[in-house]
Formats: sequence, structure tokens, C-alpha cells
Amino acid sequence: MPASRPGSVAVITGASSGIGRCLALTLARRGSTVVGLARRGDLLAELEAELGRHSASSSCRVCDVSVTEEFVDVLRQIEQMHRRIDIMVNNAGVECLTPVNEVSLDSYRWMLDTNFFGVVTGTLAVLPGMVARQSGIVINVASDAARAPEPGHAGYAASKASVGAFTESVALEVASRGVHVHALYPAWVPTAMGLSGIDDGGRLPPRSVRRSEEQVAELVIRHMGGKRVDINASRLPLLAVAARALLPVPYQWAMRRRAT
Ligand SMILES: NC(=O)c1ccc[n+]([C@@H]2O[C@H](COP(=O)([O-])OP(=O)(O)OC[C@H]3O[C@@H](n4cnc5c(N)ncnc54)[C@H](OP(=O)(O)O)[C@@H]3O)[C@@H](O)[C@H]2O)c1
Repeated sequence: MPASRPGSVAVITGASSGIGRCLALTLARRGSTVVGLARRGDLLAELEAELGRHSASSSCRVCDVSVTEEFVDVLRQIEQMHRRIDIMVNNAGVECLTPVNEVSLDSYRWMLDTNFFGVVTGTLAVLPGMVARQSGIVINVASDAARAPEPGHAGYAASKASVGAFTESVALEVASRGVHVHALYPAWVPTAMGLSGIDDGGRLPPRSVRRSEEQVAELVIRHMGGKRVDINASRLPLLAVAARALLPVPYQWAMRRRAT
């Protein structure tokens, strides 16, 4: 059975809120058995009740993806219970500003442990089963911050750039074995994380990069299992990549202005 079909078993990290929660409900409505993971048990209990209305076999588990043994163990238990994992969405993420001279190395480690090593752990744990079955989908959530790092976001941008590079390399390695690995670039979404970067009365990002959780979930459903590694919610940030290469000095000037 193709991994994206109804009846598939999907695991989503960071399912307690935002993009992960919306994607969990969207997949359950389409007939997947969803297992949602996150740290906040109260929010997971609410999600589990809602998932149950669409898919009786869906459930939620408290799990911290930055604690490697715990995360691997939970994934092993899910595989035993449902006999496979068809779709793995490594969505859990954290963000904090890291202005130079103000932030300790611990903030960097915290973001790398969750955003990067959480993704690596989740990917490597499910790949052997997917490769053996010649079928599976992994979606790793990156960010446009990786392609156009802004001043003050060094730790977050670095963690997400690592996700993009890791994902692309693994995707190329396993593509011939029936496994599709994608990097999702959600543009800007008004979740707890998205809104945390907007000060009171501050300006929202341009309309062309604003997306709702539902729009991102629909985009994932449409493109997962397809040939493209990157799933881009907006094409505008791709201009930053071109501008960096073709007009580096004006590009850097514009980005520096954002720091002041
Ligand atoms: N919103 C945007 O504009 C935007 C743009 C680009 C990329 N993204 C990425 O999209 C992903 C989802 O973020 P969001 O916007 O939906 O924000 P959100 O609502 O804050 O969701 C973040 C999720 O990650 C979970 N999480 C954090 N640390 C975790 C850990 N150690 N173990 C397990 N779960 C953990 C949180 O749950 P608990 O606190 O319950 O653990 C929460 O469910 C993130 O990777 C983020 O970097 C967001």
C-alpha cells in the first residue's frame, strides 16, 4: 500500500499545537491512524479526544524528542503496536533569539537538540522499516530562516539549515528504495511560535508568505510522496537564495538594516 493512502500509520512530533496539531487532525480525517507526540500532556489529551472522532485507532503519547533514548523507544513501541510507521513527520521545534554576547551556548544546544537531533533521531529510527518495506514518507520541518538568516536568529537558522541539508542528503540516498524524504518550508504561520516573533503592534510578514495551519497541512497532503524533496509553502523566500548569489552586497545591506 502506498504510504500516503488512507489506512496509513502516521507519527507526528510537536502535535500538541500549531502546524503539527492541524496536520494530525487532517491526516486522521483522511483515514490515517495518527500517533501524536509532544511534551504537554494536557494538550495531547484534548487532541486525542478530537482524533478519536475521526480515527478510533489514533492516540497521543508524551515524548520529548530531544531525549534520544526516550524518543527511539517510543517509536519502537509504536512500530510494534501498529506493525509499521508509514509517515513520520518530524515537526517539533523551538525558537529563541540568540543575539551575540547575550546568549549562552546552552540556548544553541537546546535548539540543536530539539530542531536538528530530534529530526535526525526520528528519521533514522523509522528508515530501516521503510526501506525494508520499500515504502514510506518522512517529512522534516525546516524553515525559510535557514535560507535567509536574519540578524539575531543565528541558533534557530543554523538548526534549520542543518535540517535542510540532512534531509536532502538522506532523500537522495533512499529515493531508489521507495522511500520519500521531504523538507517542509512552511513560510510564516500565526502559531505560538510564529506570533512570538511579532512584538505588540509589530508588523506581520508580507501577505505572500503568510499561510494558515490548514493551508500548510493541505500542501503537505498534496506533495508528500511526490518527487520533489522540498515542499515550499511560499516561493517568495526562494528569491532570497537567488539574491544572495547574484547580488550579495545589496542583499546583505538589506538584511543588515533589519538589525537596526
Ligand atoms: N510558525 C511559523 O511561522 C514557522 C515557520 C517556519 C518553520 N516553523 C516550524 O514549524 C514547526 C512547528 O511549529 P509551530 O509554528 O506549529 O509552533 P508551535 O505551535 O509552537 O509548535 C511547536 C510544537 O513543538 C513541540 N515541541 C517543542 N519542543 C519539543 C520537544 N523537545 N519534544 C517534543 N515536542 C516538542 C511543542 O509541543 P510541547 O511544548 O507540548 O512539547 C509544539 O507542539 C517547528 O519546527 C517550527 O520551527 C514554523
